[in-house]
Amino acid sequence: MFCKLVRLLCFLFIGVVESAEKTAAPTILYSRQSPLGLIEVITTSEPEVLSICENKDYDVMQSTFKQGDPTYLGLLYEPLVTISFCFTKKLNKVLLLGLGAGDFLGYLMNYFPTAQVDAVEINPAMIDIVKQFREMDIKNLANYHCRDGFEYVDEIKGHYDLIFCDMYLEKPSIAEKYTNLFKKLKNCLKEGGVFIFNAYIPLVPRAVVKDIFENFENIAAAMTDDEGNIVLICYQGPAKTKENFEKIAGDMQDKYGFHYALPDVLQKFEFIPPANHETWITKFPVLS
Ligand SMILES: C[S@@+](CC[C@H](N)C(=O)[O-])C[C@H]1O[C@@H](n2cnc3c(N)ncnc32)[C@H](O)[C@@H]1O
Repeated sequence: MFCKLVRLLCFLFIGVVESAEKTAAPTILYSRQSPLGLIEVITTSEPEVLSICENKDYDVMQSTFKQGDPTYLGLLYEPLVTISFCFTKKLNKVLLLGLGAGDFLGYLMNYFPTAQVDAVEINPAMIDIVKQFREMDIKNLANYHCRDGFEYVDEIKGHYDLIFCDMYLEKPSIAEKYTNLFKKLKNCLKEGGVFIFNAYIPLVPRAVVKDIFENFENIAAAMTDDEGNIVLICYQGPAKTKENFEKIAGDMQDKYGFHYALPDVLQKFEFIPPANHETWITKFPVLS
């Protein structure tokens, strides 16, 4: 009788542990060993929201997206990037350096479906994921280039209205890789075009940010609420005031009805006068 009771208790205990493990483990919808590690798409506690994780590290979501809603931007810095829409004269030709899960691509195409986009991504698994999980929500497809963005820039022939640089791997950037990158990109912008750089603070060397400030005549910047990223918006030519952009942001918001209201996003940006460059540059680590 005693043995039976012990067996029953063991059975119940193991059952509880197993079911707890089952609820904790995510469902894996996609798995591919890429040259840059194991990439998986997993479910999250929110319906329709999927997450991309690397090397089975389920505590760190590299990216999240919501199937059926390309206007959902899951990472804190992403809504800040949308301010670029009111900094450029036109949105005909766009270059994305670092496609990732295609969050910005989906958002951009939702509002500007006629834009021609070149999307450069070093990891074939990311392009695969965009094709399998996101293309059904994207109104116009991009030209995907599976290659190193730094090399791609060396061969650019045309000019772009908007260039968004968001190329990261899980290690600090090597400042030398960025040598002349901003000079080249500046020359690949159309007149009235805009360059956006997402800087994840711990991984971007101060020298890289200094180089951006040296290359572009006008820069506005915003930090995410968790102080993890700084988004820099850069353009050439005569400087415009924040009031100029408030008018443009308001008009565009009325016309397009963006999910993340442009006038609200604009309020997060500081238009940086030369005297304040150093304050922003020194927010980044030296990383020798
Ligand atoms: C933060 S994600 C980009 C997210 C993207 N902006 C979005 O809207 O979803 C960074 C991406 O840059 C890619 N990447 C890293 N180094 C690269 C390089 N040298 N050339 C091209 N892509 C690169 C990574 O594979 C990763 O997918």
